[in-house]
Amino acid sequence: MKTLVRGRVLTFHADPADSADNHDYHENGAILIDAGRIVAVGDHADVAARADAAGAALIDHRPHIVMPGFIDPHIHFPQVQVIASWGEQLLDWLNTYTFPAELKFADAAHAGAMAGAFLDLLLAHGTTTACAFCSVHPESAEALFAGAQARGMAMVAGKVMMDRNAPDGLLDTPQRGYDETTALIARWHGRDRLRYAISPRFAITSTPEQLRAAGTLAAEHPGLHVQTHLSENRAEIDFTLSLYPQARDYLDVYDREGLLGPRTLMGHAIHLGARELARMADTGTRAIHCPTSNLFLGSGLFDDHSARAAGVVTGVATDIGAGTSYSMLATLNEAYKIAQLQGRPMHPLQAFHWATRGNAIALGMEDEIGRIAPGRHADLVVLDPRATPAMALRADAAGSLAEELFILQIMGDDRAVAQTYVQGRAMKG
Ligand code: GUN
Ligand code: ZN
Repeated sequence: MKTLVRGRVLTFHADPADSADNHDYHENGAILIDAGRIVAVGDHADVAARADAAGAALIDHRPHIVMPGFIDPHIHFPQVQVIASWGEQLLDWLNTYTFPAELKFADAAHAGAMAGAFLDLLLAHGTTTACAFCSVHPESAEALFAGAQARGMAMVAGKVMMDRNAPDGLLDTPQRGYDETTALIARWHGRDRLRYAISPRFAITSTPEQLRAAGTLAAEHPGLHVQTHLSENRAEIDFTLSLYPQARDYLDVYDREGLLGPRTLMGHAIHLGARELARMADTGTRAIHCPTSNLFLGSGLFDDHSARAAGVVTGVATDIGAGTSYSMLATLNEAYKIAQLQGRPMHPLQAFHWATRGNAIALGMEDEIGRIAPGRHADLVVLDPRATPAMALRADAAGSLAEELFILQIMGDDRAVAQTYVQGRAMKG
């Protein structure tokens, strides 16, 4: 089954922060897709000649913008019913709202229903790949992987390992967390487009023995992602350092167990010292900015400029359910405002690079996702900069692609997502 997708096609091949030659844009563009993979991309006149020869079905998205599907590198799937929970900062928010909600994921039926809803919400918002935390229950990871596989998505996920400072129903043990993780890796990692992420939740909910088990897993399975949380909140940092008095700083708690590296994703990473930033850069450890979450929980302002200047690769993510929107557009909106508070307005090209190729690099998956190029899976989002009356009115006065992208970034959400494709299959509506 061949399809020709027409629209204004935008894809990045370099970071606009580093290079003036950073994107390819085809105003009258087209993408030829065969069996879920991109065969050709470019000007419509060129691609259409091949499409006619191939007898492709036309899907005309003009005048919308077609770009690589968004990538969300830090999100909690069992928190779909935690979003918009009032009044608390991190540790009380976890205890009051989040842990009670995650307890329900011991029930496979609940996990299955929530996984389907979660994945469909991602797709409705234009996100085609995520790196997700599941609950401690293997059932939750089973549900998410099965749902992602059915949808053909490239998904990274793992059950959280946690063995203290949470309700009994959310605790495993170092051995059980190790065994369950090992079994899930064997069952799901590398199956279709699925990858397993070793997921010690954070230092507070793991004993030193459990972090050691996570380090053992990382050593036994080189190339697997490791995801956790780092320096999100002042009270969290103080508690962590009291639990790990031998550690030089928060990062060192993970470093001592061999948990750093280019496949390791540190959510938040807000309140870091120079030593920690340098060590993250040395080890290739990624920092993931979670702007809506950091504002919502009052956690602080991630300093992307300083992180990059120190040589740290950064991603940008929703962090649902402390994050307040599934939309990467809304996430980039808040990231823009945080950058403004730091005196560094982020250019819209940089923002859209970040949510696509940039996050693919953060995940170490830039060869597979984040670009529109021949040979790749056709994971695409179709964006309408005139999706609402207010956006259309503003777009009437827009004179450039960058201006239209900025309207999407500041005013857009799932209403601006006209369609989402996973392996060439329309997934929205
Ligand atoms: N730190 C440990 N667990 C969590 C979580 O679920 N959400 C956030 N925002 N921070 C965390
Ligand atoms: Zn998180």
